[in-house]
Amino acid sequence: MAKKFCRIYELPEPAWKMKDCLLTLGNRNTASLSGLALFASTVHRFSTQIRSSQTEMKPDSGRGRYLKARVRSAKKRKPSSTRWLQRQINDPYVKLARQKGLRGRAAFKLLELNDKFRFLAPGDIVVDLGCAPGGWCQIASAKVNSAGRPGQPKGRVIGIDLKPIDPIEGVESYQLDFLDNDSPIRIRELASGPVDAVLSDMATPSTGHRQTDHLKIMALCEAAAEFAIEVLAEGGTFVSKVLAGGAEASLQTRLKENFAKCSNVKPPASRSDSSEKYVVARGFRPSKKYTS
Ligand SMILES: C[S@@+](CC[C@H](N)C(=O)[O-])C[C@H]1O[C@@H](n2cnc3c(N)ncnc32)[C@H](O)[C@@H]1O
Repeated sequence: MAKKFCRIYELPEPAWKMKDCLLTLGNRNTASLSGLALFASTVHRFSTQIRSSQTEMKPDSGRGRYLKARVRSAKKRKPSSTRWLQRQINDPYVKLARQKGLRGRAAFKLLELNDKFRFLAPGDIVVDLGCAPGGWCQIASAKVNSAGRPGQPKGRVIGIDLKPIDPIEGVESYQLDFLDNDSPIRIRELASGPVDAVLSDMATPSTGHRQTDHLKIMALCEAAAEFAIEVLAEGGTFVSKVLAGGAEASLQTRLKENFAKCSNVKPPASRSDSSEKYVVARGFRPSKKYTS
């Protein structure tokens, strides 16, 4: 009983021992059972909280190697939602995003990519495709100074998404379907000139079928690449989410024709159990046009 109890609730040893002991005492004296059970459940809650806060300080590989806090399944919750919830509460990036006021753990992916390749600078004009809820916009805005802090050139961040986003200072956001025929023209008009970076974190909801998801994201990525080649200034950067699965190789070949350098990166913030990675194409060469 004690062992099973410990495995299910992940209590630290002293706590589960205390609860077990109290419940045994309670069996001997039924009058005090409810009071003891209440005390025991308080100990349980307290110790689980300690346990989960300790866990959040540790790195999470995404495969559950360090997972400690567990979420009990509930009748009305799908197993996939329970898994998602468990992953969220054990994810140090989720906690850090909350602490730093960022709108999601995705923000760290852009931060890490920019730390590695340094493509965002004050004064730059950035287009962020698939920007909701706005984590990438927050990072891009800080890096290009789109809020116009004194002492640095003021840049611009233009974010578009199917969904609206809550306003972010210095970010121009629009609710648009990037795949609509007139969206690229509309974004070009909004930018009213060459753009320094086109970022795409666009993704469709997962179907659960790996190859279908891969093809859907690659379609978005290819459309974003075509757009980038139309709007980027010389030396500009294109960053896009891709899913490993085969079709990304042809995109690489096309990007290599138009950019001086093309890298495939999996930033540490990208979950290791996801086939997601990012293509970072730098040094745009405007003379060579994108052909599909
Ligand atoms: C992973 S989220 C982006 C997260 C974002 N980078 C952030 O940091 O908050 C992917 C987004 O792509 C958007 N998206 C998917 N297809 C799109 C399309 N055709 N046009 C515009 N946005 C799209 C989705 O609505 C979703 O908000």
